[in-house]
Amino acid sequence: MTGAAELDPKQTPVVPELDRLELSDRFASLWPVAEACLRRVYGSHPDCEAWLQRIAEVVRELAEARSPDLRLRDRTRAQWWTGGDVVGYSAYVDRFAGDLRRLQDRLGYLKELGVSYLHLLPLFKAREGESDGGFAVSDFGLVEPRLGTNADLQALARGAHAAGIGLVLDLVCNHTSDDHAWAEAARDGDQTFKDYYIVLPDAAAVAEYETRLIDVFPDVAPGNFTYCEEMGGWVWTTFYPYQWDLNYANPAVFCEMTAAMLRLANLGVDGLRMDSAPFLWKREGTDCRNLPEVHGLLAAWRALLAIAAPGVILKAEAIERIEDVKSYFGEAAALPECHLAYNNGVMTALWASLASGEAEPARRLVKAAGRKPDWGVWVNYVRCHDDIIWSALGPYLSVEGQARCSAFYAGQVSGSFSEGAAFQAVAGVPSSTNGMTAALVGVGDDDPDSLAARRLLLLYAVSFALDGIPVIWMGDEIALRDPPAAEDDPEPHSDGRWLQRPQMDWARADLRGDPRTLAGHVFRKLALFARIRAREAAFDARNVARPAKADPPSVLSFVRGEGAQSVQCVANFSDAPCLARLAMDAHGWFDLLTQEVGTADDAPLGPYQVRWLVGQR
Ligand code: GLC
Repeated sequence: MTGAAELDPKQTPVVPELDRLELSDRFASLWPVAEACLRRVYGSHPDCEAWLQRIAEVVRELAEARSPDLRLRDRTRAQWWTGGDVVGYSAYVDRFAGDLRRLQDRLGYLKELGVSYLHLLPLFKAREGESDGGFAVSDFGLVEPRLGTNADLQALARGAHAAGIGLVLDLVCNHTSDDHAWAEAARDGDQTFKDYYIVLPDAAAVAEYETRLIDVFPDVAPGNFTYCEEMGGWVWTTFYPYQWDLNYANPAVFCEMTAAMLRLANLGVDGLRMDSAPFLWKREGTDCRNLPEVHGLLAAWRALLAIAAPGVILKAEAIERIEDVKSYFGEAAALPECHLAYNNGVMTALWASLASGEAEPARRLVKAAGRKPDWGVWVNYVRCHDDIIWSALGPYLSVEGQARCSAFYAGQVSGSFSEGAAFQAVAGVPSSTNGMTAALVGVGDDDPDSLAARRLLLLYAVSFALDGIPVIWMGDEIALRDPPAAEDDPEPHSDGRWLQRPQMDWARADLRGDPRTLAGHVFRKLALFARIRAREAAFDARNVARPAKADPPSVLSFVRGEGAQSVQCVANFSDAPCLARLAMDAHGWFDLLTQEVGTADDAPLGPYQVRWLVGQR
């Protein structure tokens, strides 16, 4: 293996033979893994052999097309996603910066915050008009013209890399827009492309499937099928009617999406968020989520990516119950799937604990999250662009408990501090919740020491202390509230999730240097959390959070790391002060967040206070 310095593309050209050799080594060891997974899924397909050959060719072609600087990046950043110094930020390009070029100018802002992982929501050419926030993609390889060009995206990736920031983009792999060229060819009667989609010929079959499927958008897009005359029946549309589910039972679809994935990797993308992964495979008689074939496809993609672009990682977007989410890390170390997965169970439980003032829901989910495969890393977050789905807490919180949370955050419970909104109503399932973090914690004025401000910081301090990569949702770092009411919004949307997708308020962000303002206070705290994480070895993602005994019911307590290097996070979910018990073998404590010290074996916590404790050293 040649050292990175010798391979610097600016100094000397990459030695082609050596590079070839390494690719062929990777191919020799990983193609059999991919092949085995694909045979499990497509073994009975009449053209299985031909497709395996075609997929291998596509992978080779795109591996060889990878640029020297990206190959160098692949070699020099082993296991980068496990470091305690990785802090994420997620945003829509237009809402955050206008377009990709102007986003370059905001990289400094992200660096100031401590960000090293930037997840940009879908930015490829989307359907005209409604596009589910860009999740109805018309071209997987062309940047949405409103946001820039492919050259702008490559320039952004280079600028981000130079600033020490990795770029993560969505691969909307479950569906295309109804105006994608494949969908248009299918509607024009081309059988090859008709087979890219799933069409049921009669209403009885639709009704039969519907008995087992969930309804993702029961209010705004009920049902999972959309009638289309030209397609000769009901097209499978899990989400909006204009998002046509791809037919992964057809190996041509897997081959096309593999090419799309590797082309994205070759644009300089460091990670891919596998949108709606649970829905990729359908089988009659099931709920068509999380099926074994989905895992086969993901394990194959992981191996193919490791051949062609080994520095690029996969993140599962599987907003399911935690036991199902964990399966997206893969069944064995030798058969991994996604490097990362959203820790939606813990995120939702933190909100449940905040509503009740009791740490128990969060404690249970932190414990459950800890029982994950060691090769998987969580993405921890407080909010994202989607709604908070309470049913994901089953079986750790009863349906009644979930319904209480739903009502609490919709502000329907007396004494609730929240100004969120309920989303979707299905009999027997508590509505999910929309709203920015600031609205959900009840930020009313700009007092940096309000209880609401403390609640927001509690959620972020816990999320930064958990094992994995913490990802900040755009605007939370300045306690940004919901966008203006629909009637004042220049771009009104029927889907309630736009409540948590405001325009970035740069005038407010300009206050970030002043800790007397709420924006400044929150920004500085989040930047502090990032700095402390980066320097303490305990925050390496491989040190799983172990819940500790904590006497008052309002306190969540967990320990990261071992011995003298361990850190204990204690968080008081109530507005009443209390004492948290030290779980480390130490004589007194030091709080990394406040620099306070104590000699007792417990530490006082104010309303909603969080401490990151180390033993007196
Ligand atoms: C994911 C996205 C969501 C989108 C859906 C369909 O869940 O996060 O915003 O509506 O996929 O693409």
